[in-house]
Amino acid sequence: MSDRIITAHRPRRLRRNAIIRDLVAETRLNPDGLIQPYFVCDGSDIREEIKGLPGINRESVDKLIESIAEDMKLGVKRVMLFGVTDRKDEQASSAVSDDNPALRACRELKQKFGEDLFVSADVCLCGYTDHGHCGLLENEGVNNDDSVEVLTEMALTLARVGCDCVAPSDMMDGRIGSIRQALERDGFTNTLIMAYTAKYSSAYYGPFREAAQSSPKFGDRKSYQMDFRNTKEALVELELDLSEGADIVMVKPALAYLDIIAAFREISSAPVAAYNVSGEYTAVKLMAQAGLGDEKALTLENLTAMTRAGASIILSYHTRDILKNGWLND
Ligand code: PBG
Ligand code: ZN
Repeated sequence: MSDRIITAHRPRRLRRNAIIRDLVAETRLNPDGLIQPYFVCDGSDIREEIKGLPGINRESVDKLIESIAEDMKLGVKRVMLFGVTDRKDEQASSAVSDDNPALRACRELKQKFGEDLFVSADVCLCGYTDHGHCGLLENEGVNNDDSVEVLTEMALTLARVGCDCVAPSDMMDGRIGSIRQALERDGFTNTLIMAYTAKYSSAYYGPFREAAQSSPKFGDRKSYQMDFRNTKEALVELELDLSEGADIVMVKPALAYLDIIAAFREISSAPVAAYNVSGEYTAVKLMAQAGLGDEKALTLENLTAMTRAGASIILSYHTRDILKNGWLND
């Protein structure tokens, strides 16, 4: 040993072994913040795996109830429902009809599980319009205010069957305020609104659109979803959604938008959610399947990064795997 002192500043001391690393860990992924998404379709006795989302199914209401009952045994307590239907028209009428599969699922889940299960549901028209846009068309464009009326009716319909939380993902202007007023007016003072506040127009939604059969038949969603070059625009959306009555604000997608999550965490008076979207999930699954990465390590690195950036709630298709495999227990 030489008597030369190279340094007394040794950050590696705190990394020496797992028991020390756990002692000083700054971020912990919270299982209570996880929400598992489900796709619920028309019909009965249907459970089919979604090609682009390995491990995730499209299920009829009867099968969905069974799946969620099983998942609850693993520790899943919070879910997000997306309706899938072939009954599409110009007006998105099946979005607000009594046989909307998401609505039926919501009603049955709340009857069966009550307060043991937190049920949230997507509020958007793209799964119900024949053209696949998130709102109603007028001269090839999406008409904001007409769309808000239908979205508001859809949110109310969900609240009436006991939905705990409505989550508008359409990105029309003024929809949070309109939904909040309608909920208050009809006495649904406890229904949460989780706003897709900064929802960017993203190529990472690819597998979801296949799953929900909700791709636009022409054009794209750039006239309503946000441009990924913009930050300040997200802050405008945040201010609006909070002032209009959102309880939870969301950033979507998550991984390419950690800076937006951090900005929200800094400014928002409401809890911040991150949507770990379909493309982010499938990228991990395909890497793991190809033997190019460890699924647990990739998943925990991604979701912990969202937590570190400031998301206290994460919507993720990985939720079931995390709980089933006990990835947060060791
Ligand atoms: C519907 C909706 C989308 C997602 C959630 N709600 C798709 C889209 O806007 O095209 C994406 C979720 C995912 O990719 O996991 N508006
Ligand atoms: Zn949509």
